[in-house]
Amino acid sequence: MKIAVLTGGGDCPGLNAVIRSVVRKGVQEYGYEFVGLRDGWLGALSDKVMPLGIAEVRGILPRGGTILGSSRTNPLKHEDGVRRIQDTMAAHQVDALIVIGGEDTLGAATELSRQGIKLVGVPKTIDNDVRGTDYTFGFDTAVGIATEAIDRLHTTAESHMRTLVVEVMGRHSGWIALHAGVAGGANVILLPERPFDIDQVCAWVKDRFKINYAPIVVAAEGAVPKDGQMILKDRSLDEYGHVHLSGIGEWLAQEIEQRTGTDARTTVLGHIQRGGTPSAFDRWLATRFGLHAVEAVKDGDFGVMVALHGTDIVRVGLDESRGRTKTVDPALYDEFEVFFG
Ligand code: F6P
Repeated sequence: MKIAVLTGGGDCPGLNAVIRSVVRKGVQEYGYEFVGLRDGWLGALSDKVMPLGIAEVRGILPRGGTILGSSRTNPLKHEDGVRRIQDTMAAHQVDALIVIGGEDTLGAATELSRQGIKLVGVPKTIDNDVRGTDYTFGFDTAVGIATEAIDRLHTTAESHMRTLVVEVMGRHSGWIALHAGVAGGANVILLPERPFDIDQVCAWVKDRFKINYAPIVVAAEGAVPKDGQMILKDRSLDEYGHVHLSGIGEWLAQEIEQRTGTDARTTVLGHIQRGGTPSAFDRWLATRFGLHAVEAVKDGDFGVMVALHGTDIVRVGLDESRGRTKTVDPALYDEFEVFFG
């Protein structure tokens, strides 16, 4: 059995831990061979293949990023995409793929599986927005980084008695904003799922100043004002049709200054949330996902992704879980309202 592994979409901490786990289990327990496909689906389309054995995965468990490289290439947007992937697999005698990706990469995998390519998915993303799994690896690390940033911003905000707005990642879902905002004791948390009222935000900011504390506002990059629009960095689209977000933090700081007559600043955490070494939990989850992905291949159980349900790793049909991103339940957000303002 020969398996090709790829990592697609935005990178996240823990990708290398999955790759190591897959290779260690596959080689040591079942005598499988592996190759790596470079830069996500791009490598599968254009025959960019690298060796992947025990030597290549030695020492990569704590390393951020991905030794395979990644891209936002959508194979279904390329002419003859399916045939080209089949050609690459045939050229290297690859029997099956392990596809490590988020909603977009796994969405493409779902279609390729329908068209007969044997594959198993592994969900990843700092955004935690993949349906069908309780958590994705990468999320815990990102929340840790954002929480540490919020802790630091509290002290400087209080020295100057000004508002600090923290913009975190999260295009369609506010999981990072909610978890880091709650862990960091933010006074306002804004999510894409819940369009916000800027008057309410300013009222919460003023309340905070009244009790002599400096407000911390955490906003997901996809947060939108009621009657307003998502703020885009530019209008270009990637191959999955996504725009480049960022700007809501700056907009909020300006509005808060104008409407409350107090000082406000913005910090955009950006890719700091995606880089660097994975947390212990992400290493644990990524390692378990890798082990179970190899088991699925061994069982010939294709067209599934491994997923975390409670504390168990299960297999979920790719078909069943694709289509929409996993968003924050409004009732969960409402639990924390007592901390706002
Ligand atoms: O998909 C994960 C994500 O982290 C989003 O939250 C964010 O909008 C996007 O990646 C940024 O991607 P890029 O690195 O391509 O700008």
